[in-house]
Amino acid sequence: MYSAAALATLSLFAAVRGQQVGTSQTETHPKMSWKQCTGSGSCTSQSGSITIDSNWRWTHVTGGYTNCYTGNTWNTTICPDGATCAKNCAIDGADYSSTYGITAGSDALTLKFVTKGSYSTNIGSRTYLMASSGDKYQMFNLVGKEFTFDADVSQLPCGLNGALYFVEMSADGGLSKFSTNKAGAKYGTGYCDAQCPHDIKWINGEANADSWSPSQNDQNAGSGKYGSCCAEMDIWEANSVSTAYTPHPCSSTGQTRCSGLDCGDDPDNTHPTARYEGLCDKDGCDFNSYRMGVTNFYGKGMTIDTSSKFTVVTQFIGSGSGLTEIKRFYVQGGKTVANSQSTVSGVTGNSITDAFCDAQKTAFGDTNSFKTKGGLGGIGAAMARGMVLVMSLWDDHSVNMLWLDSAYPTDVDATKPGVSRGTCATGSGKPTDVESASASAQVIYSNIRFGDINSTFTAS
Ligand SMILES: *[C@@H]1O[C@H](CO)[C@@H](O)[C@H](O)[C@H]1NC(C)=O
Ligand SMILES: *[C@@H]1O[C@H](CO)[C@@H](O)[C@H](O)[C@H]1NC(C)=O
Repeated sequence: MYSAAALATLSLFAAVRGQQVGTSQTETHPKMSWKQCTGSGSCTSQSGSITIDSNWRWTHVTGGYTNCYTGNTWNTTICPDGATCAKNCAIDGADYSSTYGITAGSDALTLKFVTKGSYSTNIGSRTYLMASSGDKYQMFNLVGKEFTFDADVSQLPCGLNGALYFVEMSADGGLSKFSTNKAGAKYGTGYCDAQCPHDIKWINGEANADSWSPSQNDQNAGSGKYGSCCAEMDIWEANSVSTAYTPHPCSSTGQTRCSGLDCGDDPDNTHPTARYEGLCDKDGCDFNSYRMGVTNFYGKGMTIDTSSKFTVVTQFIGSGSGLTEIKRFYVQGGKTVANSQSTVSGVTGNSITDAFCDAQKTAFGDTNSFKTKGGLGGIGAAMARGMVLVMSLWDDHSVNMLWLDSAYPTDVDATKPGVSRGTCATGSGKPTDVESASASAQVIYSNIRFGDINSTFTAS
């Protein structure tokens, strides 16, 4: 993703259990099956389940009910530093449907945007697919394979992002690597992505409580001294107006805690190129059909009609750890539709290759950090090590999702190549607006299939 993921709410009353495990609420992962396919399309059902990220969970004093974290602040008595906090606090189980608006039914997952619970209002969510054992994430190596799912984004307006993507988290959420992490993947620990987000409450078995600064415009989020970096393959970042798929390599391997310039940020506005000096490629190399010149391809009533469900096929061409191309097809109403071709001057093709990325960065005048952080080779290497499937719904407290669905940056002529990404107004997508006007928004991901190239869908 382009900007840091938005966070969810915790209750006023909420006590959060840090890195210990809380027992107030039994953790019962919603079940969600998916299919593994081979050869000419023979698929077998796999049992899986969903866990919600630890950031969203109640964190309270171990064995008690006092919140360790409330709203967007840590209790500094209980959490004077990250290690002490992890000793004192526990992360609890989740009531998926009533607190977080998450429901799974056989092979479908529905994420609701705003959920008013008894003690809290929850905004969005981030979930991970678990392996059948229920205590490890399902790991995927996408190189030479195809990943397919059905998307229903019909109820996602400007400013929201229903995202399905892969990140290089540890299979056990860091449980074995960090002895102070007692919760692990079952409780959704170990998140990382290519933005090296600082809003992660638990990193490397410690609370990210040091130098925690509450967000100015998000009553549920803040940012700590540390970020959590790793390679990210965004298969799907979308609403009903725009979509993009985007690889983001990192020069580091696996989930990596960062501080300072390694995180690639510039909190004091003193280092303008900081974004490109961190471990990860924050911009990525995106394919957004609208941004690539075809403005009638994706949207309500368009070639890919977002007013109803459709199938999204992504093929990762290559072998070993050598990824060479990322292709996209859609299937809707029984017809297969290839991704739109670029009509941007100087950029050809309808798939992501290193050559496409070089040409696109040149045409748009963008810094090519995709290349310097490893390009497709870097993402292929991360895939070969194994990545975790994330399904989320979020709004954007830093730039209102304009990078996905509007003109961005907003201070540049919108007719300059690469600036316009969708038809949403530059004033759209403000969290205060969408959280009130579109509280009932939701996304549905269903019928996940993974396997050999051309095995997960029937071309027609
Ligand atoms: C912080 O924790 C201490 C120790 O448990 C408690 O006495 C205090 O009330 C808490 N503060 C807040 C604001 O909850
Ligand atoms: C997949 O199908 C396409 C279109 O029919 C074909 O061009 C391609 O070679 C196939 N790939 C594999 C690996 O079978």
